[in-house]
Amino acid sequence: MSARLPHVGQLAISHILNMRDTMRPLIAGNWKMNGLGDSLHEIERLVAELLEQPAAADILICPPFTLIDRAEALVRGSAIQIGGQDCHVDASGAHTGDISAAMLADSGAKAVIVGHSERRANHGETSARVAGKAKAAHVSGLMPIICIGETEAERNAGHVLEIVLSQLRDSIALVPAPNYVIAYEPVWAIGTGKTPTLQDIADIHSAIRGALIDHEAEPGKQVRILYGGSVKPDNAAAILCLPHVNGALVGGASLKATDFMKIIRAA
Ligand code: 13P
Repeated sequence: MSARLPHVGQLAISHILNMRDTMRPLIAGNWKMNGLGDSLHEIERLVAELLEQPAAADILICPPFTLIDRAEALVRGSAIQIGGQDCHVDASGAHTGDISAAMLADSGAKAVIVGHSERRANHGETSARVAGKAKAAHVSGLMPIICIGETEAERNAGHVLEIVLSQLRDSIALVPAPNYVIAYEPVWAIGTGKTPTLQDIADIHSAIRGALIDHEAEPGKQVRILYGGSVKPDNAAAILCLPHVNGALVGGASLKATDFMKIIRAA
């Protein structure tokens, strides 16, 4: 697969060669539609462990909306921050069942995931819509975590970079760098136990970095690019030390404090 990835532009390559990856990693947990009040014990465990031994990474947990308030009260004063999993483009209005970025911020959230492939697939979200959500998050003082990634069919057809870079371009259009985080999550790697090769992850992250720099030179260097898709305690260290991998977006393995802590320690 790696051999099929085209090279990024010469300008971007020279920037990449000159830059050093000095960003503090971000390890973010996406609980998806999982977690009742009992699950807050997992957050309590993380807080206690981090108090004993601080982490070398920023840590974010995105529980379901119903737990944000309570989770935020538990992590206050700790190294963990709380985020949402989606937000509406509007600040308020007649949108039954939706949550605005302002509401998330009011509940104590500091970030929000936008454009997750499950939202793109299940709710028909386009990259233009994702850009609107990212802008709404930014305006409300939240850090948007913008997800991009190809499906298995797109990968098999050899269109990985074309898809990923076009989602990137359209999704970041309304927020200035470095006020967002990118999460590269190949759809076929989510919840499957499958991951791309380390070389493929490195190639795609470096192409994303090149595109960010082409878009906004200096600030583009400071955007964190996370990898997501079957990140587990046993593969986290190898993935997190790749160039231009500035952290991870973790699904299943973020639900248990013991697993999530091992990934945090791998960073
Ligand atoms: P898994 O880690 O369960 O594969 O999920 C990844 C993901 O979708 C995070 O947003």
